[in-house]
Amino acid sequence: MLVLEGIVTTLNDDASPNIAPMGPRVDAAISQIVLRPFQSSRTFRNLARSGEGVLHVTDDVELLARAAVDQLIPLPALIPAKTVAGVVLADACRWFEFRVCAIDQRDERSLIDCEVVDRGWHRDFFGFNRAKHAVVEAAILATRIDLLPAEQIEAEFQRLRPLVEKTAGEAERRAFDFLVEYVQRRGRRN
Ligand SMILES: Cc1cc2nc3c(=O)[nH]c(=O)nc-3n(C[C@H](O)[C@H](O)[C@H](O)COP(=O)(O)O)c2cc1C
Repeated sequence: MLVLEGIVTTLNDDASPNIAPMGPRVDAAISQIVLRPFQSSRTFRNLARSGEGVLHVTDDVELLARAAVDQLIPLPALIPAKTVAGVVLADACRWFEFRVCAIDQRDERSLIDCEVVDRGWHRDFFGFNRAKHAVVEAAILATRIDLLPAEQIEAEFQRLRPLVEKTAGEAERRAFDFLVEYVQRRGRRN
């Protein structure tokens, strides 16, 4: 099993979609998924209630960055899932519809065993890119803004910036700038 940094969609109790980056452990075939959402997350609450969701493989790091800090306006295009009650990101590369088999909530970071019940493909994955990697790292840092010292976040962003400057396209540049601005704004408030 290894970690796949993806995006999970679930349904809120009013049936609206929730879209959150998550790093589950998956097997090579991606037929077993172990999600590790904090119990404070909406993803955890939705999965505990409905028992169904969709994991996406995507190279759209701008979507990942915005979803990480819950600033998804406008919402990305969504289509109904085929087998579970849920939604699929229309621009994802691949998706995996899953059902929850078991929830271990002894720790604040829960472990949710899931079985893949359907899957699909929309388009090829772009490929490795250092700016995309930098945005993924920056997005994780942004979600930990209340847990990590401000100097550490600032230093990590400084380290990641050259990767963006050297290798980004427009979307990666926008995503990184968005996260820099988010972290600065939140930092001022703390
Ligand atoms: C690449 C990436 C992986 C993440 N993996 C997890 C994870 O495994 N578990 C978790 O609780 N949060 C994870 N996060 C943070 C959540 O995406 C973030 O807290 C989000 O706001 C949760 O949204 P929700 O409350 O709508 O579920 C990850 C963030 C990123 C950028």
